[in-house]
Amino acid sequence: MKQIVKSAEETRAVAAEFAAGLAPGSLVALTGDLGSGKTEFVKGLAAGLGSPAQVTSPTFTLIHEYRGGRLPLFHMDFYRLTNGQELELIGFDDYLAEPGVCAIEWANRFPELIPADAIWVDISIGENNKRMICW
Ligand SMILES: Nc1ncnc2c1ncn2[C@@H]1O[C@H](COP(=O)(O)OP(=O)(O)O)[C@@H](O)[C@H]1O
Ligand SMILES: [Mg+2]
Repeated sequence: MKQIVKSAEETRAVAAEFAAGLAPGSLVALTGDLGSGKTEFVKGLAAGLGSPAQVTSPTFTLIHEYRGGRLPLFHMDFYRLTNGQELELIGFDDYLAEPGVCAIEWANRFPELIPADAIWVDISIGENNKRMICW
């Protein structure tokens, strides 16, 4: 699927719709340049799952958990990750095994850590505020 959006609001709306189709145990692997809207997309996922939580980038903490929706959402960011051991420390495998949704920004930095059944979502930056979201 491919969708062109023209604002952060539209990116969030696409993600919210996308969230409706996610089953427990889904993993959304997000790719795209800095500022493409990966975190905006996760905001839409949280909203679409019905979580009232405020989504912020987990760049320094590696993981944020958002609950209160249809499924818990585990938000990770591999941007500053240097190796898989850091992930082991936060219990990465346990999060993957949870009946929730994992959303991982910069998943392509450590593709070997991403399970084969992940849903890859790529966001590319166009002119003005346009983005192309492909999954
Ligand atoms: N169409 C769009 N989709 C997503 N974000 C957009 C769009 N147009 C402008 N923006 C802006 O681009 C930035 C995207 O930031 P963010 O989601 O943090 O990117 P990333 O997590 O990929 O680094 C935000 O400031 C957002 O308001
Ligand atoms: Mg981000």
